[in-house]
Amino acid sequence: MSKVETIYLKDYKKSEFTVKTCDLVFELFEEYAQVTNLMHIIKVDKNSKDLLLNSVDLELIEIYLDDVKLNESRYIIEKEHLRVLDVGDEFKLIIINKIYPQLNSELEGLYKSGSIFCTQNEPEGFRRITPYIDRPDVMAVFRTTLVADRERYPILLSNGNRETNFKLDDKRHGATWFDPHPKPSYLFALVAGDLGVIQDKFVTKSGKYARLYIYTDKGNESKCKHAMKSLKESMKWDEDVYGREYDLDLYNIVAVDSFNMGAMENKGLNIFNSAYVLADEDSATDGNFMAIQSVIAHEYFHNWTGNRITCRDWFQLTLKEGLTVFRDQCFSADLNSKEVKRIEDVRALRERQFVEDGSPTAHPIQPDSYMTINNFYTATVYEKGAEVIRMIYTLLGEEKYRKATDLYFETFDSQAVRTDDFLWAMSKAGGIDLKQFERWYHQSGTPKLQVDEKFEEGKYTLTLTQIIPNAVDGSEQKPYYFPLKMALLDDSGKEIEAKTLTISKESEDFVFKTNLKPILSINRDFSAPIIVEQAENNYAFLMKHDKNSFVRYESAQSFGVATMEALMRGEAIDEAFVKAYGHILGSELDLSFKALLLELPSVTALMQRQEEVDFEPIYEAKEKLEKHLAAAFEDKLLEIYTQNHKPLCKELDAKSMGERSIKNRCLKLLSALKSDKIIETANAQYNDSITMTDRVVALDILENIAPLHAKVSQEHFYKRYKNDTLVMNKYFSLLASSQREGVLERVAALQNDDAYNELVPNLVRSLIGSFSRNYKYFHAKEGLGYKFVVDKIIDIDKINPQMASGLAGAFKIYEKLNSVNKKLMRAELERVVSEPSISKNVYEIVSKIIKIS
Ligand code: PHE
Ligand code: ZN
Repeated sequence: MSKVETIYLKDYKKSEFTVKTCDLVFELFEEYAQVTNLMHIIKVDKNSKDLLLNSVDLELIEIYLDDVKLNESRYIIEKEHLRVLDVGDEFKLIIINKIYPQLNSELEGLYKSGSIFCTQNEPEGFRRITPYIDRPDVMAVFRTTLVADRERYPILLSNGNRETNFKLDDKRHGATWFDPHPKPSYLFALVAGDLGVIQDKFVTKSGKYARLYIYTDKGNESKCKHAMKSLKESMKWDEDVYGREYDLDLYNIVAVDSFNMGAMENKGLNIFNSAYVLADEDSATDGNFMAIQSVIAHEYFHNWTGNRITCRDWFQLTLKEGLTVFRDQCFSADLNSKEVKRIEDVRALRERQFVEDGSPTAHPIQPDSYMTINNFYTATVYEKGAEVIRMIYTLLGEEKYRKATDLYFETFDSQAVRTDDFLWAMSKAGGIDLKQFERWYHQSGTPKLQVDEKFEEGKYTLTLTQIIPNAVDGSEQKPYYFPLKMALLDDSGKEIEAKTLTISKESEDFVFKTNLKPILSINRDFSAPIIVEQAENNYAFLMKHDKNSFVRYESAQSFGVATMEALMRGEAIDEAFVKAYGHILGSELDLSFKALLLELPSVTALMQRQEEVDFEPIYEAKEKLEKHLAAAFEDKLLEIYTQNHKPLCKELDAKSMGERSIKNRCLKLLSALKSDKIIETANAQYNDSITMTDRVVALDILENIAPLHAKVSQEHFYKRYKNDTLVMNKYFSLLASSQREGVLERVAALQNDDAYNELVPNLVRSLIGSFSRNYKYFHAKEGLGYKFVVDKIIDIDKINPQMASGLAGAFKIYEKLNSVNKKLMRAELERVVSEPSISKNVYEIVSKIIKIS
């Protein structure tokens, strides 16, 4: 790999030109597409001479400047640019070029997903469609005409509202769309295909009528209902909670199977990975339904936080993403269980973001440099970004936060702005100084908070010390400013005191007057994204008595971690933990919450605490503890299972989902016993249950403890669903996550399965991605897991660099590995960077992991 250029935030310069309007004509054919791009351009910097347009892999046909055809002396085709020489202050530019959507396997720009033409332009895809000033702070009004075969592509869509439809004689037809809102090119979209549709409407709070459409491959229409319901819920919620109304007559969503990410908020024409649209009880799990609700909301909320107000440059990505994730998290919390949602969000943050933040690819939520921005759609920018917004919300309180977002929308509507502008609005309307708080935007790594307690003569002193990790380059970082929700409890669990402390110093004492020694409940609701380190603990007590459900969960997790770590040191199982676990089993609690309390700590959670990561002892300890708990509580677990197992119930209300989650948690724990009875129970659940939720749990258990039964049910499952690629994702991922010997060989063979296709990112993530998260086999001591995944990265990089760099994420743990694994992994990673044609996407991730540049 030759040297890759790094781009720095500090080098940001305003664009020398801007585009007022962009009129596009797309003529879509089976071999290629022809694009005619008419731009009205204005020179902003009067000293500039040449117009530099971004242009990647485009075949230029003709250029006209103010209607005069330019000869080749007037422009230069550079590597990733088109330079038009010596242009005036204001002019009309027409560019005609050819592209090959059918050959586009990167899935950026205009491409084909099955028989559907669609686009993906964030962040830098538009330059693969037509030469343009492809940056988010250049905002133009777009008009789009599509022309295509009438039979193959009856549906023609673009942003905004439809202006006209027309028929041509030669079996072709066309449509023109106009979007009145100026927008950056990354929000441009088009779709052409033979699609099924469901439609509905929403009346906004000021009485405007918006028609809603969800398009999908024909035959899948009935699977779009949940998405439609979620869309209407989102529209209502954004009016109620943020006062934000929809601003077009039309809202279109199109589901496609080949998509690099979850979904995309293109103005008025969202394009979705079909995994986040299509669902019915027969083919989707409860988790899928919840994910659809939140991704639909996420993209809808972007209409204000992202589209109306967009980013000045890509370093500001968290401006729209962190804020929009925070908004979708609150939405899902409001519509479902607040407590459960918060715990799930924190769990996801720790599993992915904490790992990233502790690795050499750690970066601030606002990075200051990148090789390719595609690599920065990360858990840090999104999920930690959302935690940062949540802290602002906590610091301001609901009312002031709403005033501050109103001010933000008022002040910056239709502009491309920075995170600093957002913070200005928060600080101004919130009446607080956020200067020190800004460090959350510029520093990386997860801070630790060391908690020391002292009790003497009616006085309780809490000493809180921030331990701030160094940045990746070794430079020192400074203490943070954050809200810390806490309470002091008496020995019956009653709150003596409950407040939100504001932490700003490196170390500080907080003194409370109290006559009896209190029990501390700290970082309630996970008010700050930190790691709390406590010398003293009261896990069992807090698990039982804390009113704050997050702290109850946290205490159960920490107690589980302590118990497993003792096991790993060769000590016996702590019976106090077993007792506390039994107490939860016997308690009357919301069932989904109870299922979370009963979850043992993940392997990832334990591995992050190891000085030098070694998986075997973790797996051993986990297995031991599971067996012990399953044996100790066999009857109780079976009783809960039987009470809540309702094979013919497919309702999606909180109660039914809670029943499924608790009884599946119990069944999973019982499976540690590997008894005939449990095998039978799982087998019966597979055969009798009508929900996908129940079936995948049963399949998973059988796969891991009963290979013979598994074979039968898997064959049955495969036959039934082999044509449903969303279900096949579950199938591949289940097999690749298996803990049974020989998984690598089976994964390798599954690549030849008829249902598998390396061009479809969902399938690659399900098979190869799941295998790379199957620590036991990915990190197998001979290094064969590493070799397999590296071979795949090198292959897939040639098809789709974004997909390949996503797979490279599995290696982020490198630095922390034990020396044996580390050596094996390094050898494989060196193979990646020495690959001459490796993409900058993969190069950036791998070179940072093994620290070469
Ligand atoms: N902006 C999209 C979202 O967060 C994510 C995305 C990024 C999709 C890049 C495709 C490509 O909703
Ligand atoms: Zn987003």
